Amino acid sequence: MSQAETAGMKAAVFHQFGEPDVFRYEDVAEPAPAEGELTIRVAACGINRYDLYLRMGAVFSDIAFPHVLGADVAGTVAAVGAGVNDWREGDDVIAAPGYPMDPVDADVRPENRAPSFEVTGTHAWGGNAEYIRMPARYVLRDQTGLAKHELAAMPLVLMTAVHAVETLGEVNAKSHVLVQAGASGSGQVCVQMAKALGAKVAATVGSPEKVETARQAGADLVINYNETSFTDKVLDWTDGVGVDTVIDNVGGSVFAENLRALRVGGIFVNFGLVGGISSTINFKELIFRQHQLRGSFMGSMAELRRGLDLLRDGVIKPAVDRTYPLRDVAEAHRYIESRAVRGKVVLIP
Ligand SMILES: NC(=O)c1ccc[n+]([C@@H]2O[C@H](COP(=O)([O-])OP(=O)(O)OC[C@H]3O[C@@H](n4cnc5c(N)ncnc54)[C@H](OP(=O)(O)O)[C@@H]3O)[C@@H](O)[C@H]2O)c1
Repeated sequence: MSQAETAGMKAAVFHQFGEPDVFRYEDVAEPAPAEGELTIRVAACGINRYDLYLRMGAVFSDIAFPHVLGADVAGTVAAVGAGVNDWREGDDVIAAPGYPMDPVDADVRPENRAPSFEVTGTHAWGGNAEYIRMPARYVLRDQTGLAKHELAAMPLVLMTAVHAVETLGEVNAKSHVLVQAGASGSGQVCVQMAKALGAKVAATVGSPEKVETARQAGADLVINYNETSFTDKVLDWTDGVGVDTVIDNVGGSVFAENLRALRVGGIFVNFGLVGGISSTINFKELIFRQHQLRGSFMGSMAELRRGLDLLRDGVIKPAVDRTYPLRDVAEAHRYIESRAVRGKVVLIP
């Protein structure tokens, strides 16, 4: 284990890749902060789809076991490492959900394009535990006033939404936007982000129960794609022109239809692949329709701060579906896999 060790703590640990039953709720060593680091007492830790992929071994095969997942941490400072002057024990904090792991990349901007940028809890231990160790430069003061479980639902999807919708998607008050999976954890926040920018927003959902969720997130048009073609609906909605921006977290299964719903010269932003990792592309269409294809991974610290400001100001609201005690992490993963989930699932140590 790479963490400096002191007393014990409880953690949701796994010793091999696999289904949710690989989790063990175990006593492990509590991390102590090295120079330039903080230890955070975790009050709540959000789960992301990415955690499920990591657990299955679908992203990296070089994870050292035992491992602890968890990118979205809200908590309080428990211990302050040498050389850290501006933090005190008990300060309310949020851990960055991703950051450059190698200190040589500390000055790369935006941070998410640094070679060593990684989601928190990928190789280093994450927040599915009572404590997490973090470089102090990637810890933010919590000024939102939200309950910790609401806050812990947000950092990763907020950072992603600002980057995908505002920065890459170039969404503004004149935009028509299509957001895929508008009732999902990331989709709800992208809908809210596009509305915050003044856009008109259409969102897709896969069941009648999710229609209201996407509407509450702010979507002007919600399309159950199991009842009707989302592309036809979107083309109707835009008088046959297509939307200015597609924000896609589904991937392969809807790629061709997403491009059909996009206007000439429109921007396609993808950041997710629940519906498949690959697709084919028609270059004739790409050339004549001049689509801008953009891949989006996480975001910068500035984008995270921008998202947290919107959260503090109540412009974006937390999208919590439910919480689970940390010891029930396997059940929480199964619930997300069931596809019934409408928003974020949060673990409480
Ligand atoms: N690149 C990044 O920075 C970044 C950041 C956040 C998330 N992501 C990615 O975005 C994707 C969505 O994440 P999330 O946290 O929003 O997920 P989530 O809350 O679990 O929701 C995923 C939703 O996708 C829809 N879906 C469509 N096709 C599906 C399929 N074949 N299998 C399962 N679900 C399907 C389902 O909604 P319906 O039933 O309504 O269709 C499902 O509820 C994931 O791939 C995740 O890794 C990437």
